[in-house]
Amino acid sequence: MHRISHALHHCTDVTRGQLLTAACRAALEAGQLIKSRYTQPHDIAMKGAINLVTETDLAAEAAILACLAQEAPGIPVMAEESASTHQLTDAHPIWIVDPLDGTTNFAHGFPHFAVSIALVDQGRPLVAAIYQPMLDELFCASLGGGAWLNDCPIRVTETEQLINALIGTGFPYEVEHTLADVMRQLAAMLPKVRDIRRAGAAALDLAYVACGRLDGFYEMNLQPWDTAAGWLLVEEAGGRLSDFSGAPFSPFVPQTLASNGRLQQALLHLL
Ligand code: IPD
Ligand code: CA
Ligand code: CA
Repeated sequence: MHRISHALHHCTDVTRGQLLTAACRAALEAGQLIKSRYTQPHDIAMKGAINLVTETDLAAEAAILACLAQEAPGIPVMAEESASTHQLTDAHPIWIVDPLDGTTNFAHGFPHFAVSIALVDQGRPLVAAIYQPMLDELFCASLGGGAWLNDCPIRVTETEQLINALIGTGFPYEVEHTLADVMRQLAAMLPKVRDIRRAGAAALDLAYVACGRLDGFYEMNLQPWDTAAGWLLVEEAGGRLSDFSGAPFSPFVPQTLASNGRLQQALLHLL
């Protein structure tokens, strides 16, 4: 695939290259569909008091499932809009898909959202693709093969001091249960860092840590489809992830702290 030829060249084996191609094709296809519907009126349903789903989330997911079934047949998929709890395991190879990360932004015409697709096997992410269709930015990574933005290599920042750091965060949908923790974390973080962003798409927050637009990112209660692809991007770009106690990261645990690595301890201390 021409668009990711350098990324493919750095894949450590042929199978991984095929999986990366499949992930990128599916992300690009769904992203084009999302972009084509961006200015149309939306059919919005509620999954909770403030948790939206639009017809475009569902259409993007259907397009991704069809593309993955064709490009990489036989691999189970955990996709946000059709996920069921018995699928919540990473023991076997499984695609983890967020068809539209940043649905609230999409529904409000705020042009910051993405498609996120990862393949996780034995607790490790093998390939990842995150596509922001409004900027035509395709982030991808393969285990051991580096992280890429539009086929150029990306690295995390070298920021060492919190006061020079731009930090991303997000607020869980179940805000009535988490408000005290959200406010405590914000109160600890805000006076110590240069500034905080809540841009509204966790997959992009992680991709932005990977490419150096953010120095770090934290959020509670994210789901595997929000973080699986960004996890690999950050690690392949030289960064680190953990939970809020410093334990190794898994997209199946509800705390995500990502950084350029140099800031991880200081951010852990604040949280
Ligand atoms: C949401 C976004 C948001 C984050 C939420 C996620 P969705 O995903 O990533 O930034 O704060 O926790 O659920 O619902 O737009 O796919
Ligand atoms: Ca999401
Ligand atoms: Ca979503």
